[in-house]
Amino acid sequence: MKITAILAMDSSLLIGSKNGLPWHIPEDMKRFKEFTTGGIVVMGCNTYLSLPERFRPLPHRRNIVITHTPVDGVECYSSIELFITMMQKETVNQVWLIGWASIYDQFFAHGLVDQVELTLLDGEYEWDIRVSEFRFDFHETASLDFSQGKFISLVKNS
Ligand SMILES: NC(=O)c1ccc[n+]([C@@H]2O[C@H](COP(=O)([O-])OP(=O)(O)OC[C@H]3O[C@@H](n4cnc5c(N)ncnc54)[C@H](OP(=O)(O)O)[C@@H]3O)[C@@H](O)[C@H]2O)c1
Repeated sequence: MKITAILAMDSSLLIGSKNGLPWHIPEDMKRFKEFTTGGIVVMGCNTYLSLPERFRPLPHRRNIVITHTPVDGVECYSSIELFITMMQKETVNQVWLIGWASIYDQFFAHGLVDQVELTLLDGEYEWDIRVSEFRFDFHETASLDFSQGKFISLVKNS
């Protein structure tokens, strides 16, 4: 099973603030939708609950939440290990890891992420949530400039 993390950050690994997504970048949203539609998205509980109600669950995707407290009507797993075991049992090919900080960090720390679709934003932001550095484990396979930064594809070093 391939696990691809999809995230947006600035050059100092800041991904946002406590109150949620601090920006609205239509090109980034479009890319997120194109990549994940039809697939499986896995996220932490707060990320799921922070989705606007009309986008919850994210449409046309199998939504999976990692939480100790199951959410009604949602496929939930109480640990990352259990999630991985269940996906492997189903012989799932690919999942999209959509956040947020603690979930990204745990998957990266355990070497579970195979690829990253990174939106690297120009400029520096005054946010308070960052991910731990993960790029030393990956190499770049593609990069595309857009109006507010770069879209970068990364693959885990072999
Ligand atoms: N900038 C971006 O790219 C981006 C992307 C996605 C989301 N966001 C924003 O992120 C915010 C939420 O972030 P967050 O870091 O607080 O939350 P989060 O990672 O979505 O959720 C954290 C929760 O997930 C559960 N969890 C995490 N690790 C677990 C584990 N190993 N086993 C079982 N459960 C585990 C716990 O839930 P329980 O306490 O229920 O057990 C924990 O409280 C939202 O406001 C959202 O808008 C930003």
